Amino acid sequence: MRVLLLGSGGREHALAWKLSQSSLLEELYIAPGNAGTKEHGTNVNISILDFKEVKRFVIENKINMVVVGPEAPLVKGIVDFFNSDIELSKVSVIGPNKMGAKIEGSKDFAKQFMNRHNIPTAKHGTFTKETISSGYEFLEAMAPPYVLKADGLAAGKGVLILDTISEAKQELKKMLTEEKFGEASSTVVIEEFLSGVELSCFVITDGDSYKILPEAKDYKRIKEGDKGLNTGGMGAISPVPFANPTFLEKIKNQIIIPTIKGFKAEGIVYKGFVFFGIINVKNEPYVIEYNCRMGDPETEVVLPRLKSDLLHLFEGIATNTLSECDVQFDERTTTTVVMVSGGYPESYEKGKQVYGLNSITESIVFHAGTISDGPAVISNGGRVLAVTSYGKDVVTALKKSYDSIEKIEFENSNYRKDIGFDVL
Ligand code: AMP
Ligand code: GLY
Repeated sequence: MRVLLLGSGGREHALAWKLSQSSLLEELYIAPGNAGTKEHGTNVNISILDFKEVKRFVIENKINMVVVGPEAPLVKGIVDFFNSDIELSKVSVIGPNKMGAKIEGSKDFAKQFMNRHNIPTAKHGTFTKETISSGYEFLEAMAPPYVLKADGLAAGKGVLILDTISEAKQELKKMLTEEKFGEASSTVVIEEFLSGVELSCFVITDGDSYKILPEAKDYKRIKEGDKGLNTGGMGAISPVPFANPTFLEKIKNQIIIPTIKGFKAEGIVYKGFVFFGIINVKNEPYVIEYNCRMGDPETEVVLPRLKSDLLHLFEGIATNTLSECDVQFDERTTTTVVMVSGGYPESYEKGKQVYGLNSITESIVFHAGTISDGPAVISNGGRVLAVTSYGKDVVTALKKSYDSIEKIEFENSNYRKDIGFDVL
């Protein structure tokens, strides 16, 4: 099979690494990719939001399957674009259609979907500029802290958690009337605050059947002890020790099954990954958010635990035969620690040469934000590398990731020294 993978982060490097191990793979292209994906296929410099350009590349290179890594092309409707073009009718796309991607692209849509299908989630109200005074009343009737969410995509920054009612009202006003998050916050979801520990669960589906992938926990804050600003993710572990079989069974029955059935009942064509952001409230699971793609850095711990051929599973998705595919997992623990540019998630410098990558033997180094300059690897983002290791438990795997990091160098690098601290 000839595959085009869209994206350029650690998730896409992990996808490329896993796809390259498939006996079904003939040729892999990654657009735009990074210095890591280049080891597993050919990077191509095309804009993944320019669907006509993607189409031209697909036709010229006789691509059979397009795998979509990030949410933006899905929310913009790449699946619908492919499905409605006669010249592309034989090309399969791994990802949901535009309506399916709305579970991530619109928080209000996701909440209403969950309500329609009795999926446990925080109580909410949705408001616009026109209904701002009802928004204030809604806040007054709630207990602190207050959770405000921009309805649309806001690069992971659109959620505010505020301690006082006056701050909450001020921020609601900024979001609705001053475009605090641009167009994304012209509609705001106000939610009940849920208290508990979070984990990420993943499913692949062909629209009828589904397979549950290993769960993971990511560490979103920049500083040790889960302090400081939110980031894209500073590390992850899989499996998650508190996710015991009883709790995972509840997630399956109360959340996963109703979600997949809900898509089908509503005529949503969903062929791809579903990411469930779950919070454990007194041993009951609630959905905090849906994403229409894999997580990053979760992919860098989930895919290394998948023993089965990923391309075979993708074929199952494309041909509606996923139920016939066997899925096997590695029982070991995986951990990943993300090396970031100093200053991230605020302003930071790119363009630093990365040294030491060739000396790593005990970990897999997934590139998150790098480019090549001849043989050199150069930092090209906030998150630069995700250093993944296997172990019999979290402690053993983490020790390998941290030992490997000691051997990697780039100017002003930073990483969290306490990934997994809360489960040890
Ligand atoms: P989201 O983008 O919806 O995942 O929200 C970002 C983060 O805000 C989540 O990972 C949670 O840590 C937190 N959060 C979101 N919604 C709630 C809620 N209803 N109660 C408590 N924390 C929340
Ligand atoms: N790690 C969280 C995400 O990918 O959204």
